[in-house]
Amino acid sequence: MRNKTGGELKWWQKTIAYEIYVRSFKDSNGDGIGDLNGITSELDHLKELGVDAIWLTPCYVSPQADNGYDIADYYRIDPAYGTMEDMEHLIAEAKKRGIRIVMDLVFNHTSDQNEWFQSSRRGAENDKSDWYIWVDPKEDGSAPTNWRSIFGGSAWTYDEGRKQYYLHTFLPEQPDLNWANPAVRKELQSVAKFWVNKGVGGFRMDAITYIKKPERFSDGEADAKDTLAGIHAMTANTDGILDYLHEFKSAVQDGTDIFTVGEANGVFPDQLPDWIGENGVFDMIFQFGLVDIDLPDENNWCETCSWSLKDFKSFFADSLQSCETAGGWFPVVLENHDQPRSISHFFPKDDKRDARAKALATLLLTMRGTPFIMQGEELGFENVSWQSIEDFDDISTKNHYAFSLAEGYSKEQALESVLRFSRDSSRTPMQWEPGENAGFSTAKPWLPVYPDHDVYNRTSEKKDPGSVLNHYIRLAKLRRTCRELTDGDYTELMPENEQIFSYRRMNESRKATIFINFTNREVSYDPACISDAEWIFGTEQNAKKGLLRPYEAVIYEAPVS
Ligand code: NOJ
Repeated sequence: MRNKTGGELKWWQKTIAYEIYVRSFKDSNGDGIGDLNGITSELDHLKELGVDAIWLTPCYVSPQADNGYDIADYYRIDPAYGTMEDMEHLIAEAKKRGIRIVMDLVFNHTSDQNEWFQSSRRGAENDKSDWYIWVDPKEDGSAPTNWRSIFGGSAWTYDEGRKQYYLHTFLPEQPDLNWANPAVRKELQSVAKFWVNKGVGGFRMDAITYIKKPERFSDGEADAKDTLAGIHAMTANTDGILDYLHEFKSAVQDGTDIFTVGEANGVFPDQLPDWIGENGVFDMIFQFGLVDIDLPDENNWCETCSWSLKDFKSFFADSLQSCETAGGWFPVVLENHDQPRSISHFFPKDDKRDARAKALATLLLTMRGTPFIMQGEELGFENVSWQSIEDFDDISTKNHYAFSLAEGYSKEQALESVLRFSRDSSRTPMQWEPGENAGFSTAKPWLPVYPDHDVYNRTSEKKDPGSVLNHYIRLAKLRRTCRELTDGDYTELMPENEQIFSYRRMNESRKATIFINFTNREVSYDPACISDAEWIFGTEQNAKKGLLRPYEAVIYEAPVS
């Protein structure tokens, strides 16, 4: 299979990736928390779904202030999730099924409980004292700058012992590492090599655009009533960051066949050639244009902005174009563990939930790039509808609720925006069976199983030929048999159409034309472009050329003449 420029596609370009939120996937030991053995026991589900790579959210030792994105020991597995033997077993069992395990490397920050930080905070005179970002207070004793952390509140916390502030882009429990120190970079390379030697297939690099801090720390322009300035504007993608990342790539990745995907908020399309492709630092990067399509301002969860299908379609056309120009590859993502469920995010709530889920599945699995399925997306999961902030677990959700109240919004407005955006929606336990705890655990799950689990669960959906799950399984098979869906180029059709997302995927021998109705109404289109094509797939029986029923998705195929 070849790519557009004639080169052979790499394994990860032909892959369907699947994100597992480890805490919520499957509990094997009855403590209400998902674990590694639980994942191993469900590898066949993933195999059947056509998955070739599993991205695991962090499962290292962690006090779980941010559910594992605060790592206390990069070389050990958190006992809540299992042991190193369990991890080795998972890697081996996955490998038997042709599935690779992708680890999440959280390298912008550690946990404050990490021994590195514990040493660092003991004073300015030990070998780790310069491993974090320590800065003296301003003359009046206040924080060095007015930066607001991404989860709200000052990005600086004062340490009584050192009489200095340390920087944290996220929670105070997540102090930022000092990448300017070569010893830190060397240690992080050792961590990554340790996992490469364990046999993992790649890395997702968390919050990677924040690792390089500016030369000087200065106040930013306040952007909310709290008089703080969002840290993103002050530190994301700072000059010099690429040197660190090239160093990391040559130390860790060169000579291996692992892939890397960077979570790269703050990289602009014209900068992509420096980030992906032959001269880049990662194989792919996750960008935020689509998931932030309705956010006018990242510091304000209570306001949304309207968007149109044209904007939505432009994200794909523009991203694919800029990836292509950079000689790089695109990760296709509609939701992840930080985002709402896509059928709630991109469509209004109505009585056609399955049809919405199948429409988006069709997009995800026929777009050019590597699709990432978020656990539960294949079952048609939607956002939670909890009625009180007390019901939520996620720390950033709670902080943003408080932040919204402090900005003057009412409790109702704050709850409404939490319901729209909370990360908990994509973190509720997987639903394997009907009945108590949905087969996720024999104990009370750490986060409530969603009440729809008697209908939306793997076992029931497996039996129903018309289910969302079976639609995913069929699409994944189609992606393999119709090679143009993997290696074909992408051309958007009808870009001005406000109801239909349509595009063509074409390689040297075949072309597939995809139509997806994004509305709850019947819509029509000119079928001239598919006059020579045959129906190969659709969400409804008896598709009619030129007509789409509500949320109907359909694929026609023809040889290239
Ligand atoms: C991005 C991760 O996806 C998110 O879950 C986490 O809270 C932050 N980075 C901090 O590590």
